[in-house]
Amino acid sequence: VMRSVVLGYGSYLPERILTNDELAKMVDTSDEWIVQRTGIKERHIAAEGEFTSHLGLKAAQAALANAGIDAQSIDLIVLATSTPDNTFPATAVAIQNGLGIHHGAAFDLQAVCTGFIFALATADNFLKSGAFKRALVIGAETFSRILDWNDRGTCVLFGDGAGAVVLEAQPQAGTTADRGILTTHLRSDGRHKDKLFVDGGPSSTQTVGHLRMEGREVFKHAVGMITDVIVDAFQATGTTADDVDWLVPHQANKRIIDASAKKLHIAPQKVVLTVDRHGNTSAASIPLALAAAVDDGRIKKNDLLMLEAMGGGFTWGSALLRW
Ligand code: ACO
Repeated sequence: VMRSVVLGYGSYLPERILTNDELAKMVDTSDEWIVQRTGIKERHIAAEGEFTSHLGLKAAQAALANAGIDAQSIDLIVLATSTPDNTFPATAVAIQNGLGIHHGAAFDLQAVCTGFIFALATADNFLKSGAFKRALVIGAETFSRILDWNDRGTCVLFGDGAGAVVLEAQPQAGTTADRGILTTHLRSDGRHKDKLFVDGGPSSTQTVGHLRMEGREVFKHAVGMITDVIVDAFQATGTTADDVDWLVPHQANKRIIDASAKKLHIAPQKVVLTVDRHGNTSAASIPLALAAAVDDGRIKKNDLLMLEAMGGGFTWGSALLRW
């Protein structure tokens, strides 16, 4: 069977760090409130003139360097983003061009915070089918550009950044001991579309709009949806929580992550947390967390990783991956 194996990873964070104390000077909030409710201490904010494509390109270049492969061997680029440079063309083609690649296919995919899982699953299926050989899967966001900086209920939660992995189709035995993506599970339910959305867009208002969220409603559904798709991954592969070396969750909120891990009996020391330093970077949060935990030596080759996310739509999903 064909498996999509990770050849390399990379990430990029804008230089500028915005702390909770700085935010407290902009809106009526406090470091204490933000840390207690979300676990977030600081987040990175893109500079003026620094776009999603610039962050994504840097993460992609880092992933290619880490994999030790030539950009020209990439024939598929899937970019997960909800904050594209332009309405069109896809920001993925700007990244493709930045890498000097003029063959193969590059496109954007939009599933908000679950974007990276959707992109990973999409690339995985293209690779397994034989349609493409090597893929760059990127999550890149500049949520700072769509925040209402007067709304304390949302502006404290998000940050900017990008992360990427290089995947290659490789023939393998097909057991859970093989490296690569073992299974992916994607879900959406548009009944929840108005609980977390941007109140603008080309077709509706001809404006970019701002992020709007019913925080409590999101929180209420998050843990159940996340745990459902993780159980799907366990059932599809015959694995259990004990087999998982690392849970690499979408980094929205420490309380959601803690509650999900607890419900699944995944020990807290197996959970990768970066929300304290990155905030919620939407589609970029999982590859950013992956990069942080591989860089500091926690995630090692052949470790079994459970990736999960939930976000606007609602969308939610999981990916079980042997690193
Ligand atoms: N600082 C101080 N007070 C605040 C702030 C703030 N930044 N934001 C809201 N408050 C106030 C509210 O105005 C409210 O005051 P009131 O009681 O006087 O009306 C009070 O705090 C409680 O507000 P709630 O919204 O009920 O607070 P809650 O405990 O639910 O925490 C939060 C809010 C952190 C947004 C929480 O609901 C949450 O984490 N939800 C999940 C949302 C999320 O993570 N979304 C990310 C995108 S989706 C995803 O990625 C999964």
